[in-house]
Amino acid sequence: MSMIPTKPRRLSSPKKSDNRFLMTPLKFLEKRILLGVTGSIAAYKSVGVLRALIQEGADVSVIMTASATRFVTPLTFEVLSKHPVRLDLFGGGGEMPHLTLPTEADAIVVAPSTANFLAKCALGLGDDLLSALMLNAKCPLILAPAMDGDMWSHPAIQTHVETLRGRGVTVLEPEEGPLASGEIGKGRLPHQDVILGALEAILTPRQDWLGQRVLVSAGPTQEVIDPVRFISNRSSGKMGYALARAARERGAQVSLVSGPSSLSFPRGVECESVHTAEEMNKAMTRRLSWSTVVIMAAAVADFRPTRPAGTKLKKTREGTARLELEPTEDILENLSKMRNSQILVGFAAETQDVTARAKQKLHAKGLDLIVGNAVGLPGTGFDSDHNTAVLIDRDGRVNQLPTMPKELLAHHILDAVLGLSGSTSKTKPRFNPR
Ligand code: PMT
Repeated sequence: MSMIPTKPRRLSSPKKSDNRFLMTPLKFLEKRILLGVTGSIAAYKSVGVLRALIQEGADVSVIMTASATRFVTPLTFEVLSKHPVRLDLFGGGGEMPHLTLPTEADAIVVAPSTANFLAKCALGLGDDLLSALMLNAKCPLILAPAMDGDMWSHPAIQTHVETLRGRGVTVLEPEEGPLASGEIGKGRLPHQDVILGALEAILTPRQDWLGQRVLVSAGPTQEVIDPVRFISNRSSGKMGYALARAARERGAQVSLVSGPSSLSFPRGVECESVHTAEEMNKAMTRRLSWSTVVIMAAAVADFRPTRPAGTKLKKTREGTARLELEPTEDILENLSKMRNSQILVGFAAETQDVTARAKQKLHAKGLDLIVGNAVGLPGTGFDSDHNTAVLIDRDGRVNQLPTMPKELLAHHILDAVLGLSGSTSKTKPRFNPR
């Protein structure tokens, strides 16, 4: 017999005085979620995830691996979920829980997901209940990893993550911070708000960008010095790729022009790879008339060598080498001059006076919205999973956001674009999706 009841749990009626309850609809009402817990020290945090899911109206059944039970007892999850915790691949009386459980679930969330569990999922191994039912699941799958930083960055695990993402599994990025080893690194279980946010995006995707065509640039550019050297910067492409994914999830058609990046192209997004500012300029201007919104998250080099050498420059034993540079094309300025009715969003990476400098760029480049990034802070900005940003729009509204994962920031930026006033300015008609 399945442990997921066919009827959703009855919720107690909200009290009249409880305005919060009356005003905020439950995010996961009538949703049936399987919560997998694997053997990581972060298993204790899945108790919080379970409670938050239940608070949002979900009916949650928990499946634990044998090693997870060494960190937290099944009883804890049973009391909170009000369902027996499933541990065994072999149910009694001929029951096959790995076949029945996933068919009745709206989503499966595994939090924490260990390196071993990720590897088993990627390889299709099913030697216990949780890994076996993943092979039979047709519903959305979310894996929230937790492990040591060196394990997360190991090429084997990174390959498994890519494999799983390529199959449409949502593998969240672990957070950076103190780990069980005492080291600081990337391997902490993502915060429960991030896990629930990912689940919400999958189960109740907002389609508020339907009909929009979004052109995003991402990553660095590389400006050639000689056949083996270039000028570039530390942009990874993470911010731009997160924007492309978020706009796609919310219903937009998306085109991504990316400088060199190790990231896989987002699914369902038209993509072009470029190297130089000149190539990015061409790729962006070619797509401008197609687009309704343009977001320049790329970190474009401001200068390039005037005369790239055709052969490798030789080291000189004496004296200094000189490189003559010329400015690259300012892509945003070009787009701003050429645009018809497109909304233009720019970024400003600043180490000081972020808001003031971002405002200057907003006006100088004729933008509708600018995202000021504080790139001098540790753990945010270039090549990080987080950003600390201030959003400034053409009407002078300033929204200082806390440090947050780039996936979440991407949604804030899209919300801010939707919130732009329809007031007259240089570009008409305005995109007013409301
Ligand atoms: O890629 P990640 O590792 O995730 O890092 C993200 C990021 C920090 C690179 C990104 O969020 C960011 O801030 N991108 C813009 C960085 C930048 O180049 O800022 P800027 O102040 O130099 O440029 C201002 C704006 O003009 C930017 O939108 C930029 O794309 C654009 N620009 C700049 C120079 C140029 N020649 N042409 C341009 O269009």
